[in-house]
Amino acid sequence: MKTSKVNIDGKEFEFPMVVGSEGEVGIDISKLRGQLGIITLDNGYGNTGSCQSSITFIDGEKGILRYRGYSIEELAVKSNFIEVSYLLIFGHLPGRKEFEVFMHDLTHHSLIHEDMKKFYEGFPPSAHPMTVLSSMVNSLSAYYPEAEYKDDEYLNIIRLLAKLKTIAAFSYKKSIGQAYVYPQNRLSYCADMLNMMFAVQSTPYEVPKVLEDALDLLLILHADHEQNCSTSTVRMVGSSEANLFASIAAGINALSGALHGGANQRVIQMLKMIQNDGNNYKKYIDMAKDKDSKFKLMGFGHRVYKNFDPRAKILKASTDKVLSELGIKDPLLDIAKKLEEVALKDEFFIEKKLYPNVDFYSGIIYRAMGIPTNMFTVMFALGRLPGWIAQWKETREAPGARIYRPRQIYTGENLRPYVPLEKR
Ligand code: ACO
Repeated sequence: MKTSKVNIDGKEFEFPMVVGSEGEVGIDISKLRGQLGIITLDNGYGNTGSCQSSITFIDGEKGILRYRGYSIEELAVKSNFIEVSYLLIFGHLPGRKEFEVFMHDLTHHSLIHEDMKKFYEGFPPSAHPMTVLSSMVNSLSAYYPEAEYKDDEYLNIIRLLAKLKTIAAFSYKKSIGQAYVYPQNRLSYCADMLNMMFAVQSTPYEVPKVLEDALDLLLILHADHEQNCSTSTVRMVGSSEANLFASIAAGINALSGALHGGANQRVIQMLKMIQNDGNNYKKYIDMAKDKDSKFKLMGFGHRVYKNFDPRAKILKASTDKVLSELGIKDPLLDIAKKLEEVALKDEFFIEKKLYPNVDFYSGIIYRAMGIPTNMFTVMFALGRLPGWIAQWKETREAPGARIYRPRQIYTGENLRPYVPLEKR
């Protein structure tokens, strides 16, 4: 085993090195505090590996993303979301029988308990769909028991995968005041989701193939992304042995933030702002470069990718295709392209290695598909679900699994005597 020597205050200590299957190297500091009484401090965890994982590999410098060893480019063209979900959760591409059983199980668990519909009535019409989504997922714990046995765990995984689209579509219908459309077993996963969103009782509706395929691609591209903020949250909550639904609800909340999944909604808001400002995109590039403005180019930059986000590359090509097949000309796409072109040539963005991320183009496709802006992050959650489940499962099954419990460097007051109220 390789080791690494650390010299602290003239004393040398040796720590084991861990090498991943793609040659990534880490120093195992599990014994650091026990041996030396010190900890490491890593703001935002940029240098900290929180686990060993065999699910997703990213090389941010080279722009590589792989699920269980398969490249995102190949999966995007050859696979489908259901197969990718199986791959992420169970570790291998399903055989024909496995695929059929999985598909059957998914279609036969998509209904939600009728009582759950009453929860929707309690939310104000202005409630953000992400808030509704996380609350509904959390409440699934009340309907389905803790997984005591492996069979229960499988069933709860299936329930969650099958019901999330129903929950998401119902929250959309509620927000626009339309009757809920129930899931249909005859439809594919993506067609069913779109049908529940766009069909109305009064007229027949056929999900256009172009929309079904576009959604399938978007979900594949979002399906996992190793230890990002929401996934780490799911693992953190799961490490306490909180149940699957509680852990995923926490992940949905983490995803909702503007710096994470909430960015796709903000990209469209930013592009609209630029449009209303006479398409003056250069002004916004300048604002993004000015630290005092606090303005960031939404959909740009990534903690891990210091080269093109491979998902953004795939989406950019797909955006043109989807818009042309739908016969839509979106002026926001033109602004997005100009913004990207100028930013990619700008010294500031080049030096800081800021490239468009997955959220930069996903919003434009969602918009063309007729999905309202406040549902974008919900669609992201739908895609990320199998990744979260896979990572939750891996945390629970890891040999020597421990509850996640980071340390801190305390910077507050030293011991001081309590002062009674009348003397303060
Ligand atoms: N616009 C302008 N400047 C930026 C941007 C941006 N979008 N992103 C980063 N920078 C600057 C930072 O101000 C920082 O400058 P400094 O070195 O002078 O301090 C430098 O680039 C490095 O960026 P950090 O914020 O330190 O990078 P970090 O890894 O912490 O954050 C993040 C990554 C959150 C994605 C950031 O790039 C960002 O806020 N982007 C916009 C929001 C966004 O698109 N989020 C979606 C991410 S993808 C996803 O979650 C699906």
